[in-house]
Amino acid sequence: MKLILIGFGVVGQGFAEILRDKAVELKRKHGFAAAIIGVVTASKGALYRSDGLDIPALLEAAHGGCFSHYPDQPGLRRGWSADEMIAAGEADALVEVSPTNLETAQPALDICKLALDAGMHLVLANKGPVALDHANLRAQARAKGVQMRYEATVMAGTPTMHLAEDALAGCEILSARGILNGTTNYILTQMESGMSYEGALKQAQELGYAETDPTGDVEGWDAAGKVLILANALFGASLTMADLDVSGITHISAADIAEARAAGCRYKLIASATAEGGMVKAARLPLADPLASVGGSTNAITMKTDLLGDITLIGAGAGKLETGGAILADLLAIQRAAGPS
Ligand code: HSE
Repeated sequence: MKLILIGFGVVGQGFAEILRDKAVELKRKHGFAAAIIGVVTASKGALYRSDGLDIPALLEAAHGGCFSHYPDQPGLRRGWSADEMIAAGEADALVEVSPTNLETAQPALDICKLALDAGMHLVLANKGPVALDHANLRAQARAKGVQMRYEATVMAGTPTMHLAEDALAGCEILSARGILNGTTNYILTQMESGMSYEGALKQAQELGYAETDPTGDVEGWDAAGKVLILANALFGASLTMADLDVSGITHISAADIAEARAAGCRYKLIASATAEGGMVKAARLPLADPLASVGGSTNAITMKTDLLGDITLIGAGAGKLETGGAILADLLAIQRAAGPS
């Protein structure tokens, strides 16, 4: 499978590391082999090579901060735009791992549409296009007979979307509620152990949990984007941010956390979604509530279904390999859907 990556930050690098480290196993277990033929970034430059880029050299250049450190190779093109790479028509799938923009979803949205139009499968970790324009992207993918998958957008590689769209395909999912942002859950957990808000946020950034601009995490917008994805992609809703009631954790002080603890409670940023609307709000949960014991960057979701009642999934919500693994899972699903080769 030939891939173009848009973005090469924490998630893109995590995915590349997985391809590097699991190449033999993936070939043996799944007959899966992938080549990264193009990478476009806003800050490091762009590289394209039809026969595949050298992944260790790509990672090394990225660690050095600029693709000018990537060695010359026969057939290597430098500085191509995403449009030029898509127009070359050689990629099987476009992998969108650039920073999320929950206001306009751009520039990723236009690139996704271009790739679908060119007949490429689309895999996203970028939440913007799925949260803001899922219905149009889905329709475009169907019209072109290609797949759009976005496991990484909600709870990293914890298989929320696979569970809902594949395993629970025969169920109606009526609502979802849980902890959907790793950064804020990490901060709240660390603050309970006495760390300052600033110190915990800095750690969350260093660990690759936070968005490029962490304001979206701490003010609840990242979780709100996930609420939109759940509502629009799983419940068939057409919600926008204006339909949601959103707040974050910035108003919660160390004193609030201590007071909650003394009362046998814990603060959690709770997100909930139905087809009619949704909210993101910090809540004081009694310790007996199962969500109260979900700590660190771990996320949890309970989906209410018509046939099976409540189903709860707990697992990684953010992180380099945790999110890179979701992209791999989506690509494997795309390969499986294409049938035996
Ligand atoms: N910034 C996000 C989080 C990354 O902290 O949950 C995963 O979507």
